[in-house]
Amino acid sequence: MVGSLVAGALWAMLPAYVPNNAAVLFGGGRPIDGGRTWGDRRVLGDGKTWRGTAAGTLAGTLVALALNFLSPTVAEAVGFALPTFPLHVAVALSFGAMLGDIGASFLKRRTGRERGAAFPGLDQLDFVVGALGLAALVAPRWFATTFPLTALAVVLVATPVLHVVTNGVAYVLGLKSEPW
Ligand code: CTP
Ligand code: MG
Repeated sequence: MVGSLVAGALWAMLPAYVPNNAAVLFGGGRPIDGGRTWGDRRVLGDGKTWRGTAAGTLAGTLVALALNFLSPTVAEAVGFALPTFPLHVAVALSFGAMLGDIGASFLKRRTGRERGAAFPGLDQLDFVVGALGLAALVAPRWFATTFPLTALAVVLVATPVLHVVTNGVAYVLGLKSEPW
């Protein structure tokens, strides 16, 4: 029971895990802040671009739709139902992840951290908070059934671990210039 809840919650987080990585792969071009500064620092910095944000949102949404397609087969194999993603939930999880990451860059710039600087804790949880927050806002009932408190707690602990591992791999593969 708890196992299926946790598995379901991690499944439901997959569309939120993908956007940051897609942004790394496909990002670049015009920065969202258009080069503007606040005080003597950039508002967001060159690391947050329109293209990266759009690519991340699209990639996360496509993953959610692919999971919808796979879920009956996987549910049959594991013996319990898995959450599915209505389109607005798919977009909320993906775009929310990007918003969380953008919010983190805003906070990094305000606290004097240059582009690429680490902010332990924030780096690992920004996109979870953004994705879950936006999903809770646009689909409160879906959110409540998919993420009961136990599942939410597991997601909050497991995600930073997964994030550290995937970013480490991306760094080793030369896709990312810092391992965070
Ligand atoms: N990226 C992007 N658009 C986004 C998020 C990321 O284009 N909305 C791309 C950028 O090329 C960025 C890279 O993905 O450099 C890595 O993302 P991230 O680590 O979030 O950005 P940083 O460059 O480290 O900048 P910051 O310090 O603001 O996090
Ligand atoms: Mg970074």
